[in-house]
Amino acid sequence: MARDDLKVPGSKDRAEKRAERLREEIRHHDRKYYFESDPEISDHEYDMLVKELEAIEDEYPDLVTPDSPTQRVISTEIDEFETVEHMSTMLSLDNTYNHEELRDFDKRVKKGIDEKIDEVEYVIEPKIDGLGVALFYEDKILKRGSTRGDGRRGEDITPNIKTVPTIPLRLSDKTVLNTVEVRGEVYMPRDAFEEMNQERIKEEKDPFANPRNAAAGTVRNKDPSVVAQRPLDIFIYTLSYHEEGEFDTHWECLKEMKKAGLKLNDNVVKKKGIEEVIRHIDDWEEKKEELNYEIDGMVAKVNRLDLHEELGATSKHPRWAIAYKYPAMRKTTELKEIEIHVGRTGKLTPIAILEPVQLSGTTVSRASLHNEDEIERKDVREGDTVLVEKAGEIIPQVVKVIKDKRDGSQKKFEFPEECPVCGSEAKRIGEEVARRCVNAQCPAQIKQRLELWGSRGAMDIEGLGPKLLDKLVEKGAVKSIADLYKLGKIQLTSVERMGDKSTRNLLDEIGESKDMGLARVLYGLGIKYVGSRVAQVLTHHHDSINEIMDASQEELEEIDEIGPKIAESIVSFFEDQQNRKMVDELERTGVNMKVEREDTHKFLEGKKFVLTGALNDHTRDEATDRIEKYGGRVTSAVSGATDYIVVGENPGSKLDKAKEEGTTVLNEDEFSYMLDNKELPT
Ligand code: IVH
Repeated sequence: MARDDLKVPGSKDRAEKRAERLREEIRHHDRKYYFESDPEISDHEYDMLVKELEAIEDEYPDLVTPDSPTQRVISTEIDEFETVEHMSTMLSLDNTYNHEELRDFDKRVKKGIDEKIDEVEYVIEPKIDGLGVALFYEDKILKRGSTRGDGRRGEDITPNIKTVPTIPLRLSDKTVLNTVEVRGEVYMPRDAFEEMNQERIKEEKDPFANPRNAAAGTVRNKDPSVVAQRPLDIFIYTLSYHEEGEFDTHWECLKEMKKAGLKLNDNVVKKKGIEEVIRHIDDWEEKKEELNYEIDGMVAKVNRLDLHEELGATSKHPRWAIAYKYPAMRKTTELKEIEIHVGRTGKLTPIAILEPVQLSGTTVSRASLHNEDEIERKDVREGDTVLVEKAGEIIPQVVKVIKDKRDGSQKKFEFPEECPVCGSEAKRIGEEVARRCVNAQCPAQIKQRLELWGSRGAMDIEGLGPKLLDKLVEKGAVKSIADLYKLGKIQLTSVERMGDKSTRNLLDEIGESKDMGLARVLYGLGIKYVGSRVAQVLTHHHDSINEIMDASQEELEEIDEIGPKIAESIVSFFEDQQNRKMVDELERTGVNMKVEREDTHKFLEGKKFVLTGALNDHTRDEATDRIEKYGGRVTSAVSGATDYIVVGENPGSKLDKAKEEGTTVLNEDEFSYMLDNKELPT
């Protein structure tokens, strides 16, 4: 059924009643689907309910309520997150790592209270590995969501919070709670995380390292419509402020929050006495691996709220709660051999090749050994049984060697003093712990340099994959980036049996890549710290690669966004004669290394701009690029020094500030006119 076919009641009264009814129904089905995983209707039927509600709200915009299910996703990008003060400090938890420390905590609790209690009652909750947030509801309506920040002030992430389907926009009528602040942990379920990463890999985007990073990155994303597509979820764990109801225990608060429709964790229990707590925590050490979310420990909280008052808090932690951290997942396995990987800059990295083991749900078959000194220090030998650990991070580590398991067959590893790929000397230079292959012509280095050069963000040469590169470099057909541009059809067909058409396509792609522009050239050269953004910034201030090659460290540092580390790296890259030679050669083969400025008339020189709201014809980056091209600058906050504010749809508070400051306000048409005609508005 198309949207136009949906029947919208002719009278506003009836429309209002129907909208209310639809909202209730949608909320009911949301609960069934997201909380109980037990949907009662098909996705299509659900979509029809939402569409009908949208049609009514389109017809009668003043009937839209803030808690309407249609209000979860807004399409405006967020300028910058405002900081907000929390109702009370969001403290963190003190950590313990063994049973004794838990017993000490229990002793401190007993000592800190007047009443004599033999066995204190605790509530034990999983410690979810996500991102702490605070949600504020006023008269049952979700008004604000914020990050923990430094504990006292966090960032207002309300539009993103509203996209999380398990966060109710309105508290249920079953609870006495109306105006409350609750706290909880936003996280990404393991299965959804895996699925999302697979998608990202397919789309050639970088996968996230772990669910926690994915959740944290998503929550602070500036585009709520992107956030809405990421599978975030939440567990609420604290009622931090309430204007209604009286509660004696944390347990009662949890029950009431559940009634309110908030999502609580199912594995929360009450136990009397610390020994019971310890037993429960131990029971979960293995079981936690079966959960569909990552936890890094358990939290024990004194149940009685009057005791919370009595015990109080230090500046950082409450004295009535403690976190127990499980040790990182570790297992022993055989280290079969040590492989040396040679990177783009010639760095030799030792990698342990392991008999595959299952660790925290993934198969681990390689681990980093960092460098030569580390192998020496840990006395790692090929054939050793080693303890491997995967601690949140994606790259597993070799913790130590189990020396008892040695039977004499293990071989001490001689770290090569020659590059395993080209046989040149591998030297330790100065204080560096790493050994580097000194031969800039080393095939391993060449291959990786070419891979970066041909990659999407650089020259985007389709068809120049790692397999073909391997062959081209192995056969000596390509020794440098410049050689790519000397490749002919015959050479290509002799190296790799490629068809006529694909050979022609590849040669065309290589030819076209000569004109990708200076920013991509700079990125493709692989200068340390020069990513796409930095490369672009450099081209806003310099017209050719020669200018950049000859710029001093001080000159580079004068550019906004270029700090000393980046500047130093650029200078030292171009001090190297090999690199200068490479640039010369590329220039000779016809790679364009100049910035073609259609109009170098910098009519915006010295002008400061602020952008706010959603523009229709420009993305934020495009608008910024256009301003910078003509010498203007874009800053994020309005001040007395701001010359122009460009205002899109749904502008933020920046517009009010700009009006106060008397800044010139431009709508998008005026902005486009100014740029098209290179004319400052009068
Ligand atoms: S209680 C004062 N309960 O762990 C009480 N925190 O270091 C503080 N966390 O910032 C929070 N699961 O983000 C509490 N069941 C749970 C938790 C939990 C995860 C996070 C939270 C907090 C950090 C404490």
